Amino acid sequence: MATTTATTTVLYCSDPLHERRADAHFAAEARQLRAAGGTALLIDHDALLAGDAGRAVARVPEGAGALWYRGWMIPADRYAELDAALRGRGGELAVTPEAYRRAHELPGWYETFAGLTPVSGWLPTGQGVAPDREGLAALAAGLPPGAAVVKDYVKSRKHEWDEACYVPDLADPAALHRVVARFVELQGEFLTGGVVLRAFEDFVAAQEAAAEVRVWWRDGTPRMLTAHPDSPVAEVPAPDLEPVRAAVEALDCPFVTTDLALRADGVWRVVEVGDGQVSDLHREADRAAFVGFLTADQALLCTPSPSGTTPA
Ligand SMILES: Nc1ncnc2c1ncn2[C@@H]1O[C@H](COP(=O)(O)OP(=O)(O)O)[C@@H](O)[C@H]1O
Ligand SMILES: [Mg+2]
Repeated sequence: MATTTATTTVLYCSDPLHERRADAHFAAEARQLRAAGGTALLIDHDALLAGDAGRAVARVPEGAGALWYRGWMIPADRYAELDAALRGRGGELAVTPEAYRRAHELPGWYETFAGLTPVSGWLPTGQGVAPDREGLAALAAGLPPGAAVVKDYVKSRKHEWDEACYVPDLADPAALHRVVARFVELQGEFLTGGVVLRAFEDFVAAQEAAAEVRVWWRDGTPRMLTAHPDSPVAEVPAPDLEPVRAAVEALDCPFVTTDLALRADGVWRVVEVGDGQVSDLHREADRAAFVGFLTADQALLCTPSPSGTTPA
């Protein structure tokens, strides 16, 4: 690696049908990266997830040095295989496999964000294997009474809310088991790590603004606020980031996102933490500003859609 080179190099997922192009979902960002003087390289995400890391990195030139990744989610074990394959050709991921897992999986970040995020517990679970009623009841006993949300270490099935996500009452073991079993069934081979139960909190959306604000942190500094990618509107309120900043610093990962939601009592809560490399950008987010903080050293807080919205 040429130590004098300051160029930021980012690995994007290639388009499965046109392997020399970035996947359409990331093409605009890759263009902005090149416009900012960065280098966009391609990896084959399908090959990586199929266990062929060597084939996945075949288009990465030898001696590429430090590499960021921006693309579809990668299971933490596969991410470590990606890093090993890159190291075999003189490259390495800027985010270590340990740091990636810490930010990507709830058990990795939960303790650091305790107090800022809903009370949670988890049970390691094999794919297709729902925990039994006793195991779930023991897990539920560690949560405050009331409703809960089910997910795995990485994702929920929020679009199947009643069926596979929301548990109205943890004191109803049959209903708890039914929702968790359905979640495990629907996740199938994508179930990551195990089952997580989280105490339900009453989140409210500020009018005309995104219900969740995604904060992008680089080296412990908030660089950009965007609407959550699912939000129909791009406007974001401006939460107080100070309590979250301390937790992000303690997590000690170079590039993370935190999704913040306003609780009905006026307290901003961390709904989810993620690795910034695999966090999706809202379709209206400013890609130029985004690659700006990936390629620059300057700590700048960008709010691309300042709406002046304040929490109700
Ligand atoms: N503890 C909770 N209380 C209330 N709503 C929640 C809770 N956890 C998640 N949700 C809702 O479910 C959605 C999905 O949960 P999240 O943890 O972000 O999973 P995913 O990885 O699928 O986005 C959140 O955007 C939020 O609306
Ligand atoms: Mg989420």
